[in-house]
Amino acid sequence: MCGVVVIELNFKRKQLIINRTMSGLFLISLLLCLASTTFAETHYHQFNVQEIAERRLCRNHRIVAVNGQFPGPTLEVRNGDSLVVKVTNSAPYNVTIHWHGVRQLRNPWADGPEYVTQCPIRPGGSYTYRFTITDQEGTLWWHAHSRWLRTTVYGALVIRPKLGSPYPFPTPKIEFPVILGEWWDRKVISVLRQALFTGAAPNISDAITINGQPGDLFRCSSQGTTRLSVKKGDTVLLRVINAALNQQLFFSVANHKLTVVATDAVYTKQFTTNVIMLGPGQTTDVLLTADQQPGRYYMAARAYESARNAPFDNTTATAILEYKLSATTSQPVLPQLPAYNDTNTVTAFSNQIKSPGKVIVPMKIDENLFFAVGLGFFNCSPGPRCQGPNNTRFGASMNNVSFVLPKRASLLQAYTQNIPNIYTTDFPHVPPMQFDYTGNVPRGLWQPVKGTKLYNLKFGSNVQIVLQDTSIFSTEDHPVHLHGYHFYIVGQGFGNFNPATNTAGFNLVDPPQRNTIDVPVGGWAAIRFVADNPGVWFMHCHIDTHLAWGFAMAFIVENGVGESETLLPPPFDLPQC
Ligand code: C2O
Repeated sequence: MCGVVVIELNFKRKQLIINRTMSGLFLISLLLCLASTTFAETHYHQFNVQEIAERRLCRNHRIVAVNGQFPGPTLEVRNGDSLVVKVTNSAPYNVTIHWHGVRQLRNPWADGPEYVTQCPIRPGGSYTYRFTITDQEGTLWWHAHSRWLRTTVYGALVIRPKLGSPYPFPTPKIEFPVILGEWWDRKVISVLRQALFTGAAPNISDAITINGQPGDLFRCSSQGTTRLSVKKGDTVLLRVINAALNQQLFFSVANHKLTVVATDAVYTKQFTTNVIMLGPGQTTDVLLTADQQPGRYYMAARAYESARNAPFDNTTATAILEYKLSATTSQPVLPQLPAYNDTNTVTAFSNQIKSPGKVIVPMKIDENLFFAVGLGFFNCSPGPRCQGPNNTRFGASMNNVSFVLPKRASLLQAYTQNIPNIYTTDFPHVPPMQFDYTGNVPRGLWQPVKGTKLYNLKFGSNVQIVLQDTSIFSTEDHPVHLHGYHFYIVGQGFGNFNPATNTAGFNLVDPPQRNTIDVPVGGWAAIRFVADNPGVWFMHCHIDTHLAWGFAMAFIVENGVGESETLLPPPFDLPQC
């Protein structure tokens, strides 16, 4: 009954407007709901995507941003609430917005990846995303899902428990989003365009950022450094989001321990650590107690880089945790961050992430999938468009398919309207050739095949996917994100996955749930989920360079039985290609 009670908050007039059609019955149910303190709100927002002027690293830039803010607005909701976000595109580029990690039950129309679930919003156009948060609490985020625009088009999505439900930890005094990002001195659209023209790797970023700011260790940046001021004894919930385009990042706070309480908007067993690591796309909620000598302490982020001989941004972003009444002139203490290639620290950290208690993991597997994932190369005739290693063009693939986005229609529109020749459904469930994935891979297996291949799943099927990194060019840690779902991570390891021995070691008791899995460098990760959300759902590496090179695929999850297992109809304002 409570589900039908909607209170519309009018932010402009700062007052509650209660629906005129409200009848006596409606009022009674409203009161009942208030009594049980589980009523949901609908939050209305306008996002204006536009180019704005920003000054960073001693220079003036024009970047694409939302509502003139960088990072963009933080959206704050409660579990069960709905969002209505009207996105108007005033920028000179096509754009879409993705609500990273929101399950979008039966509603891929609001998911956002360009040419997957919708055509882009053209310059001058608009589209309204309408969706509900169902059974998710913690931190998610939103970002552009068009080429590289998410470099500066992103913001936090904070999901608190329903009114009257507590956090599963003492309520923190302060909550603070910590959004890690990457900054380029050049226009990112041209960085990407140049890379896609030459076939070479794109330029690395010029700075890591925290809440859009590189911090004190960079030229001309001290003024803007992000600050969080606390009183001794305060408890702080840091909602850490890795919004970086291409870089896994370590994050640490000098002299303060971090207690992990949630990842990707799912609560975890709590554990304490000095450092956390997030792949692009991932979020981690940590509690911190201001229990140190009053003073100033750096929060810092810098690269975890697992690929061999690959250039990367090795700078350190900082923000300042400052105790009130401490001298503002004192030099903040810098935390000790792990070495750039410290995979041991990453493994030790990620092995500690578990569900709070026993969970129900799919046991009888209907779809046993094995995806070999990694880089690749396209041979080409030497020239300006062939600037990759040894006269090649860089590529990437899943099961040797290098994914190509359609142009004429989105995959979801093609699927629901039966538009032919947009995609095929023959994505292979295993690699076309078996090989020693993490060994010395023969050159003949380095070249993937381009295609727009999807994989069909029956509604309700139990799916297991083993994601296997390859050593083509180099092994590398890949943050693989699945839209529309969160999944259990039942196992991870190094080397080649061996079903005979590795399956026995799966954690089927309290595995963590996430929407983005960092597949270990030169290793594998096994995930499980129930295909209970119909639609077309993108799965891809959240390193945008790899995505642009074709590290992606999509699932079609068919409708089940009855309305509750069937796709919602498309919104009337869905953009056309
Ligand atoms: Cu956060 Cu398909 O992305």
